[in-house]
Amino acid sequence: MQIVTLCGSLRARSLNRAVLRAYARLAPPELAFVHCEQIGALPHFNPDLDGETPPPEVSVFRGFLAKADALVLSTPEYAHGLPGSFNNALDWLVSDPGFVGKPVVILHAERGSTWALDSLREVLKTMSAKILEPASVLLPFGTIQLDEEAILAREDLRRLLLGSLEHLRHHLTGSADEHQQLR
Ligand SMILES: Cc1cc2nc3c(=O)[nH]c(=O)nc-3n(C[C@H](O)[C@H](O)[C@H](O)COP(=O)(O)O)c2cc1C
Repeated sequence: MQIVTLCGSLRARSLNRAVLRAYARLAPPELAFVHCEQIGALPHFNPDLDGETPPPEVSVFRGFLAKADALVLSTPEYAHGLPGSFNNALDWLVSDPGFVGKPVVILHAERGSTWALDSLREVLKTMSAKILEPASVLLPFGTIQLDEEAILAREDLRRLLLGSLEHLRHHLTGSADEHQQLR
């Protein structure tokens, strides 16, 4: 099973990217993770460009996501909304038939508000994605900044991420993980 992650932040030391990397490291071997880092290269969405031959960056991006059995998203909140570059990436997927019914897990690194999370849910529902609710978790970060290693070292976060992965695996394969407690 191939899982593609999409980070809503372009920042090199992004907390959301660290969450996605930590998540992938905890995953069982049958879930192969690929981190999509192409949203910053996408042109500004313009329906005039979205014809039979979209810009090459868009074709690459859509092709990447088309191969995914599920997507895992984690995005920061900017001014109570979604970051522009992330919203732009979602706009390019609106007319993509490959996105309809795509299983999506939302990992939300909670900083105290859920405006962006609520907005993301609304956008994904409108795009007919399938949000995997039991696998979508709120991760209590408050104001602290953690890197990948520090996230993995925090027992409460590790447990939430493992629980999410178990729901994702169960959704995709229909089987339970007998070895989860060993990781
Ligand atoms: C331009 C800008 C706007 C922000 N607006 C909000 C906001 O409305 N609500 C919030 O909780 N955090 C806000 N933040 C804080 C970010 O969400 C927070 O720093 C987050 O960790 C950034 O994600 P990243 O570490 O993955 O880049 C804002 C940060 C920036 C740079």
